[in-house]
Amino acid sequence: KKIVLAYSGGLDTSIIIPWLKEQYPGCEVIGICTNVGQEEDWEALKKKAIASGASKIYVEDIREELVRDFIFPMLRAGAVYEGKYMLGTSIARPLQAKKQVEVALKEGAEAVAHGCTGKGNDQVRFELTYKALAPQLEIIAPWRVWDIRSREQAIEYAQKNNIPIGNISKKNIYSRDWNIWHISHEGGPLEDLWNRPEEDMFMLSCSPKDAPDKETEISIDFDKGIPVALNGKKMGPVELLTELNRLGGENGIGRADVVETRVVGMKSRGVYETPGGTILYTALRDLEMITLDAETLALKRQLAAKYAELIYQGKWFTLQRESIDAFMEKAGKYLTGTVRVVLYKGNVIIAGRKSKYSLYIEDLASFGESSYDHADATGFIKLYGLSTGVSAMVQKELDAE
Ligand code: ARG
Ligand code: SIN
Repeated sequence: KKIVLAYSGGLDTSIIIPWLKEQYPGCEVIGICTNVGQEEDWEALKKKAIASGASKIYVEDIREELVRDFIFPMLRAGAVYEGKYMLGTSIARPLQAKKQVEVALKEGAEAVAHGCTGKGNDQVRFELTYKALAPQLEIIAPWRVWDIRSREQAIEYAQKNNIPIGNISKKNIYSRDWNIWHISHEGGPLEDLWNRPEEDMFMLSCSPKDAPDKETEISIDFDKGIPVALNGKKMGPVELLTELNRLGGENGIGRADVVETRVVGMKSRGVYETPGGTILYTALRDLEMITLDAETLALKRQLAAKYAELIYQGKWFTLQRESIDAFMEKAGKYLTGTVRVVLYKGNVIIAGRKSKYSLYIEDLASFGESSYDHADATGFIKLYGLSTGVSAMVQKELDAE
């Protein structure tokens, strides 16, 4: 039996390898680890997978595809879960699971395995993707079946099976997930909602109070809702996002402390750093306010909330998500232009915006002399307020009885 495991290099997925071999005697475990923009010693990770008993380990750099085909469409849509979480982990899982399925099919494997717990969202995202892309594959989720219940037990199991645990110690108190869009921190002292995150937990951003005392002004060009240039310089998606992460991080931008509703129902707290994403999101929202008519804008914002739920719930590979994306692509047709923003101590301040599709006509909005005829408003309000007047007349009399 061949099993393809979504391998992260951490303790949680390392101990799955000997466990699988114990459960399915004679099985072969093949690991796949995706480079989504996290910092990692890839050579050491490969060695560790083999030392833990994997017969083969794939490492695939999927950053470009992740940003181009997943993150930027999500940005174009303006998707934010429960109005606050920028979906950094949620958006990467479908692509990671897709790569895993590809390896499974190529290797002729019968099963796929992952290291998510039975309490979280990630298990749902991995497994809905497996089902959407290769429903015939058997799914193995060791954390839902074995009796390892704590980090201590996991370390003990690793030691018993000669799994190199390196410097995994009690120092790593947080559960983290890192990619090119964000890093998440959960668990440990964050489980008490009253605890403020400790400053040294943060990894991608400085505290706004330690950020430079001077403004950083930048400009971002968008083409149909997709960012294409920074300060007038054309950049590929990975380069552009990496550069914005650096600028945002230096200026203390993109921290969010969120209590969210997990797919399995419970409220849970996560602290996120999404520096570049926060800048892009703020800038694009501004651009859409000058280029979209009121009704398209309102509909887009409604569908964005739905789109965010779908991403959060792991429903990327569905007709619903694809259909909303078709809307977003159409609605994004005129999201072309430039936004000037100032980064300053945790703030993203809009400094200017322009677009050849701008619906803002200075002559119309101006308080000065213009081609707008004030007298036209009289007839307009008569009809616009007609039903309001009728209701008031009828109901006022009846209310008086
Ligand atoms: N709560 C966030 C989400 O559901 C982050 C999950 C992080 N995952 C992890 N395995 N540490 O998207
Ligand atoms: C996990 O439970 O494996 C991580 C957290 C989550 O999936 O929400």
